Amino acid sequence: MDKRELKEAITALKKEKNAVILGHYYQREEIQDISDYIGDSLALSREAQRCENDIIVFCGVHFMAETAKILNPSRKVLLPDMEAGCSLADSCPTEKFRAFKEAHPDHIVVSYINCTAEIKALSDLICTSGNAEKLIHAIPEEQKIIFAPDKNLGGYINSVTGRNMLLWDGVCMVHDAMRAEQVMQLKAAHPDARVIAHPECNAALLQVADFIGSTKAMLNYIHSCGYGKFIVATETGILCEMKKNNPDKEFFTVSATDSRNCNCADCSYMKLNTLEKLYRCLKDESPEIVMSEDLMNQARKPIEKMLQMSKSLGIIK
Ligand code: 13P
Ligand code: SF4
Repeated sequence: MDKRELKEAITALKKEKNAVILGHYYQREEIQDISDYIGDSLALSREAQRCENDIIVFCGVHFMAETAKILNPSRKVLLPDMEAGCSLADSCPTEKFRAFKEAHPDHIVVSYINCTAEIKALSDLICTSGNAEKLIHAIPEEQKIIFAPDKNLGGYINSVTGRNMLLWDGVCMVHDAMRAEQVMQLKAAHPDARVIAHPECNAALLQVADFIGSTKAMLNYIHSCGYGKFIVATETGILCEMKKNNPDKEFFTVSATDSRNCNCADCSYMKLNTLEKLYRCLKDESPEIVMSEDLMNQARKPIEKMLQMSKSLGIIK
């Protein structure tokens, strides 16, 4: 089938099976086009929680699909490619983290949503890049905190809140591999461009950024700031939405230069989902996300706490 036929077949299957497609901003453009909702991690968890369809096809990575299942366990949750993982989630093995937590019994655990269900189950509160700063602010100052698994996001939150959270040593292989030097070269070539960066980027890069925020915050900033040129330090999938909403603005991308010999800013995990795999997964209702009741019940508490706090702080509706 060509792309057009695949899209038609997916739309027909979606209707027949009462399915909804949730897509992250980092997905391939053709997947974003066919998604019923596109959003960042926070918005997609909210959508997953209130979804009434029988099937949720999560076009994102494994921890996101797990989160959807945990929040809405009576739905069938599908992920087009089970190999769609995340380097941040991989950087935090359960048993090592459990030992770390036990070594610091006076700390609570705040985990970035980019972690496995097992790490969520060991956490007191989950956050996303879209709410981390406000949630940490809301925790009493004297309370000691372990922040896992992203040391870059944790370090950034420490710097803006004045906290001294204990950081787990994990990184996103895409954002951490972007270099401040390349940003400066782009800035020299385009001196009137604003540098916008995701807080998963390393500290040196964040220091040269004019604006730091989650995918959604970056989109809002571009739309409302009045500038016309942007040097973008985050995953390339977001450019679809940036260009769509701002056709008259210019974007220059920062690439991730790392051991993967990749000179782009694509998350190879995010890009594993294709139209073909999306079609097959809807047709076969597989691969499906399955977890034990126990694990889901434990992991749900800190995610629901995040959603409740985000609502009461006015971050989401
Ligand atoms: P957000 O969608 O929360 O900005 O997260 C970015 C990311 O890296 C997702 O994997
Ligand atoms: Fe994980 Fe980074 Fe890919 Fe996001 S971009 S899914 S944090 S590896």
